[in-house]
Amino acid sequence: MYDKNYFEKRYKSNDLPWDNDKPDSNLVNLFAKKRIIGKKVLDVGCGTGSSCIWLAKNGFKVTGADFSKTAIRMAKENAKKNNVDVTFIENDFLKEKVKGYPFDFLYDSGCFHSFDIGRDMATFVEKVALHLSDNGKWFSIVGNIDERREGNGPPPRSVKNIVTAAEPFFEIQFIASGFFQSKRPVPPKAWICLMQKRKL
Ligand SMILES: C[S@@+](CC[C@H](N)C(=O)[O-])C[C@H]1O[C@@H](n2cnc3c(N)ncnc32)[C@H](O)[C@@H]1O
Repeated sequence: MYDKNYFEKRYKSNDLPWDNDKPDSNLVNLFAKKRIIGKKVLDVGCGTGSSCIWLAKNGFKVTGADFSKTAIRMAKENAKKNNVDVTFIENDFLKEKVKGYPFDFLYDSGCFHSFDIGRDMATFVEKVALHLSDNGKWFSIVGNIDERREGNGPPPRSVKNIVTAAEPFFEIQFIASGFFQSKRPVPPKAWICLMQKRKL
């Protein structure tokens, strides 16, 4: 598991290959297909907030949560520069609830995969379900085990890792191979996952 200090150091030293100041193209595509439901959206592990800002510009009521203090400060500055209203909250998603829940739609890019395979990923899923309204949807962009990169990259996860953690609480609507939004010359492979909360 990647802890708060690990990410805090990376934001402080601007070591952020995942952050290219643009909204996630996977999210933009999903919006174009009219598959983002409702109005209230939560971005968990929102980083510097580019996708939150884009969602707010497109009419959603957005909350961005991240446990890095520096990321949240940067996200607030970015929202101010863009003159949009987004609620940014410093929050450890596994430990505390995000104010404003339930949300209609929850998005994360690179947060779910930062938890260890097995129990930690399953706990994350439980928290996602808790923050969603009935039939709420979760869109998650996850490191792909088929990425073969020298050096640092997103944590490798298999479809089996994702499905094992998610299926008890979510109906899987699709999982497809794609790419992360990134400032690396060759973006890392990702799993693009859309899931709907089950009625339990
Ligand atoms: C790979 S970064 C991606 C950031 C952003 N989604 C993006 O695509 O630019 C993962 C983010 O998840 C956040 N994160 C990891 N574990 C978290 C937790 N337990 N609670 C809240 N945020 C967390 C990190 O601080 C980091 O900003």
